Amino acid sequence: MRNKRLGVNIDHVATIRNARGENYPNPVRAALIAENNGADSITIHLREDRRHIRDDDLKNIKRKLRIPLNLEIAPTKEMLKIALKHKPKYVCIVPEKRAEITTEGGLNLNRQKIFLKKMISKIKERKIRVTLFIEPKIANISLSKKLGADCVELHTGKYCNLFNKKRKIKTEFSRIEKSALYAEKNFLEVHAGHGLTYRTADQISKINSISEFNIGHFIIAESVFIGLKKTIMKFKKIINK
Ligand code: PXP
Repeated sequence: MRNKRLGVNIDHVATIRNARGENYPNPVRAALIAENNGADSITIHLREDRRHIRDDDLKNIKRKLRIPLNLEIAPTKEMLKIALKHKPKYVCIVPEKRAEITTEGGLNLNRQKIFLKKMISKIKERKIRVTLFIEPKIANISLSKKLGADCVELHTGKYCNLFNKKRKIKTEFSRIEKSALYAEKNFLEVHAGHGLTYRTADQISKINSISEFNIGHFIIAESVFIGLKKTIMKFKKIINK
């Protein structure tokens, strides 16, 4: 079986730093520890309000990192300009609402298709891999393909919420599974992310079409108790079981 990759999202190292207005913990240090302990890529989300990762973090992480940097950005002109300037290896386009606590759903591809198509093509011209963060629906996958994306990242938030509340998960799991298969058949690389824990990652990783997981909040939370190294090692084992 092929190796499933783990992207470690370090946004919440910056959240802790910003809570006290200090310069620690340093997201660059977290990125390098993750790199040295099995992370396949580092994910950061430069939000429009800069609530966690800041422009300087992007610059410093990009300069020091050897594994791929996956930059998550909203579909806006400002973010497109930043991506073209810093040229991370990967870009993942995500929706953004100012008032949300975290990314609450996938992109509305239909509403933004003209801008997205242009944005994807400009980013791909720089040989940057482009992913669209979407709700697991067949229509979203067909449209992602038409817009020129290389990969789709399936939003696992709903599944994780249902799982954590011990509610019925079968329908949502099947939606993710069918979407993953359909995307793979259409030659899109399939990723998954949002809200994943050891237990939900264990379930979702049963879907073989998914080749990459992007996990943040739980990794940073768990690291408080057992450290980044052990947490990353545990996740790598789980997704490659
Ligand atoms: N993937 C994408 C596209 C995201 O926007 C996020 C949250 O920033 C994640 C994965 C990671 O989610 P979590 O922090 O809940 O693990």
